[in-house]
Amino acid sequence: MSDLAQLGYLVSAVLFIFGLKALSRPRTAVRGNLMGSLGMLVAVIVTLTDRGIVDYGILAIGLLVGAGIGLTLAVRVQMTGMPQLVALFNGFGGAASVLVGAATFVTAIDADEFATDTSAATAAALSVGAVTFTGSLVAFAKLQELVPGGAMTESALRWFNIGISVVIVGLGVGLVLDPGNLWLWAIIAVALIAGITLVAPIGGADMPVVIALLNSFSGLAASTTGFILDNSLLIVAGSLVGASGLLLTRIMCRAMNRTLVNVLFGSIDAGGVTVGADEVYEGKITSSSAEEVAMILETAQRVAIIPGYGMAVAQAQHAVRDLSRSLEDRGAEVVFAIHPVAGRMPGHMNVLLAEAEIPYDQLLEMDTVNPTFDRTDVAIIIGANDVVNPDARENPDSPIAGMPILDADRAGTVVVIKRSLSPGFAGIPNPLFAADNTLMLFGDGRDAVEQITRALATV
Ligand code: TAP
Repeated sequence: MSDLAQLGYLVSAVLFIFGLKALSRPRTAVRGNLMGSLGMLVAVIVTLTDRGIVDYGILAIGLLVGAGIGLTLAVRVQMTGMPQLVALFNGFGGAASVLVGAATFVTAIDADEFATDTSAATAAALSVGAVTFTGSLVAFAKLQELVPGGAMTESALRWFNIGISVVIVGLGVGLVLDPGNLWLWAIIAVALIAGITLVAPIGGADMPVVIALLNSFSGLAASTTGFILDNSLLIVAGSLVGASGLLLTRIMCRAMNRTLVNVLFGSIDAGGVTVGADEVYEGKITSSSAEEVAMILETAQRVAIIPGYGMAVAQAQHAVRDLSRSLEDRGAEVVFAIHPVAGRMPGHMNVLLAEAEIPYDQLLEMDTVNPTFDRTDVAIIIGANDVVNPDARENPDSPIAGMPILDADRAGTVVVIKRSLSPGFAGIPNPLFAADNTLMLFGDGRDAVEQITRALATV
């Protein structure tokens, strides 16, 4: 590789690193995205110009098909469908590593030019890539509700997964000691099965964590493929994806008060005792109307809006912005309380609220906003459920015991907007809905918020 190409890769790597850093803050996220894209463009141009023989015809077809699919998905996929899209992307990344690793291995073996120092990288790329591919397809199918999405608790499957992991390591050692095509196909076949059996038992609220982990795996597979191809940029980029995916997995596990082992080998209801919804709600629910809520809001000095998954479903972010502006026009202080796992993917609420042009400094993280609920007149919960369930704080027997929550129940009045008393992702009742200071406003998130804003204009 020429010095110029090495320099180009260095520029790409620096752009990736600074791009990632910029992505960690809403204010700089767009710039981060652009820097990452520019880094990838530089990487593609350098790789193409540095290689002698490239069939530009095939390349152009690939580019057109890929860009067409990417564009269609970007325009058509709803925010609520984003986790399954990310799952597919991870899966394709894993598949690409398997294809490149296998092709390089077979070519080298056929030409009798196989360097044994890359055999370990080949074994790792093939096994991690294949697990990522089928695991991501199963995750996609579950999230898309093509197959049942619940968790399975069969211990036989867990033992099978431990066994199959040991077999993969054994096959990898075989490939390193005695490089040959038979080992290659065996690793791919067994790892493809392992991807299915590892992800199949995981379900429900744990799926986004699995997606983040598979994202990390796809980076690891790409990085090991970089060792096979002796491509420093692929090693760097793959490591960045691997490390950031792992960090994200850790953040999500902490926000749900779970360990990774528990997510992978246990289900959310393991060990918890779920109280029946009737027992929690019977005779204790106070229904309200948009007019009544508007009257309460009229005198509120400080209002905290808590968005959740239901706001995303209802696409209520613009209506929420209008309500917050109309409250501010009346002199109220309005903040948005953001739970780290509200919605179905990290940063889900931030993205939606940013789309509605709500200023970033109005979005408060859990640790900042929680001490302020005592002096908050009204907390308006829009389609959130688990992230405001006081059981997590107060009931050690609850399946979500210990999960950090937004202390919305400590506000003067709590208004909960949702369509029914159905549970959230964790599938458990929420005593907040039956609390003395809670008013339930049943309806679609967007309709209800629009009705409150209209009613507010007339009081
Ligand atoms: P959830 O607890 O899932 O509750 C969402 C609520 O929205 C439901 O109870 C539903 O009630 C309501 N809803 C649905 N459609 C609606 C609509 N059109 N209008 C109004 N309300 C609507 O949501 P959350 O509080 O955001 O909690 C997120 C959950 O996902 C947590 O359990 C969390 O652990 C899990 N999770 C999230 C992540 C990330 S990264 N975000 C990762 C892993 C797990 P109705 O059907 O009665 O309307």
